Amino acid sequence: MMHLSAFRQTIRAFGSGSKKSLSSQVFRNRQIRLASRPVGLPTAANFSITEEDVSLPRGEPSMVVKTTYLSLDPAMRGWMREGRSYIAPVGINEVMRATGTGEVVASSSSVFKVGDIISGMVNAQEYSVFSDTKSRNTGLWKINTDIGTELQWLSAMGMPGMTAYFGLMEIGKPVRGQTLVVSSAAGAVGQIVGQLGKIKGMKVVGIAGGAEKCAFVCKEFGFDSCIDYKQPLKSFYSDFKKHCPKGVDIYFDNVGGEILDCVLTRLNYQARIIICGAISQYNAEGGNTPGPKNYLSLLVNRARMEGLVVFDYSKQYPVAIAEISQWLAAGKMKVLTDVVTGPIDKFPDTLNMLFSGQNNGKLLLKIESKK
Ligand SMILES: NC(=O)c1ccc[n+]([C@@H]2O[C@H](COP(=O)([O-])OP(=O)(O)OC[C@H]3O[C@@H](n4cnc5c(N)ncnc54)[C@H](OP(=O)(O)O)[C@@H]3O)[C@@H](O)[C@H]2O)c1
Repeated sequence: MMHLSAFRQTIRAFGSGSKKSLSSQVFRNRQIRLASRPVGLPTAANFSITEEDVSLPRGEPSMVVKTTYLSLDPAMRGWMREGRSYIAPVGINEVMRATGTGEVVASSSSVFKVGDIISGMVNAQEYSVFSDTKSRNTGLWKINTDIGTELQWLSAMGMPGMTAYFGLMEIGKPVRGQTLVVSSAAGAVGQIVGQLGKIKGMKVVGIAGGAEKCAFVCKEFGFDSCIDYKQPLKSFYSDFKKHCPKGVDIYFDNVGGEILDCVLTRLNYQARIIICGAISQYNAEGGNTPGPKNYLSLLVNRARMEGLVVFDYSKQYPVAIAEISQWLAAGKMKVLTDVVTGPIDKFPDTLNMLFSGQNNGKLLLKIESKK
């Protein structure tokens, strides 16, 4: 078993010496920029595609990274919206913010060398340039493929896994034998939450769109049952009662809206609701998200709802990565990724797969240069 300090070594951004590779090579960089703020579902017209040359800057030690995978995240919809949030919105004509992985293709860096695979805020573009200061300030790190594959580092050992782990462990506080409900159960975060719940001895009930996805999460991820929310609301309520006969102790909420309203009616004494996201509301026009109808259930049941922002736990990621990588290696946890391959132009259509539920598991765009 690898010791925790060894995992810390693997994900820290800076430390080891590196072989420098100076290069005057010029790379043609295609980029996705935010052209206008979407109203409702984003369309291709909200983005522009631009091209520019990039190369290793003179001066401060730097590197050029060629994007391999872009992570498509529901949060991107929020980043396109103006207004106060946990992070500044993407400005008009700025390159769309995106995390992902890439390979170092030119380097004068004192930290990263050509051939290193890195993970971080590469943004929606084929190449990105990082000075050593910028890589440190944006939390870029070299991934260790001895511990996990690139796809695992982008999913269970990356941001979705960290969200599931800290949301459930720190806010949900799992208790053996209690009932955990998780929405968007087949998604990047949801599939990990359910499996963590099983590892902690909970009864796990998923909520997902369609009978096929529901059957899948039970068969593949070991959920005890799963409720299809794409049925008439009345029968969803009665199904919910059948699947949770002893009520709900933890609800990991990824979707908000009517599903949250339903769960609120079945809370147990001192239940915990983790507000992770509300994808059903992200494309709502007018900007006013209606509040939950049945919130007084919190009072009656001395229950609580708490918001989660995964970045708050960044200092503790090594702890979660150590545990999750061992569960993956031992076959106690699985992770499903959904990889779309193509040029960066596919970004807008791929993003919208999240809002129609076309993705199965962590959605990624594998970047192929346009011929
Ligand atoms: N708070 C944080 O720090 C943090 C970090 C990461 C993610 N998140 C949030 O976690 C949630 C899940 O993110 P993810 O990356 O794991 O995405 P995901 O679950 O892999 O993909 C999104 C899924 O949402 C479901 N969905 C779409 N529209 C819906 C609707 N109207 N009602 C119900 N379900 C709907 C679809 O699944 P179905 O086929 O089942 O409908 C779709 O596959 C999002 O709300 C995201 O914003 C929060």
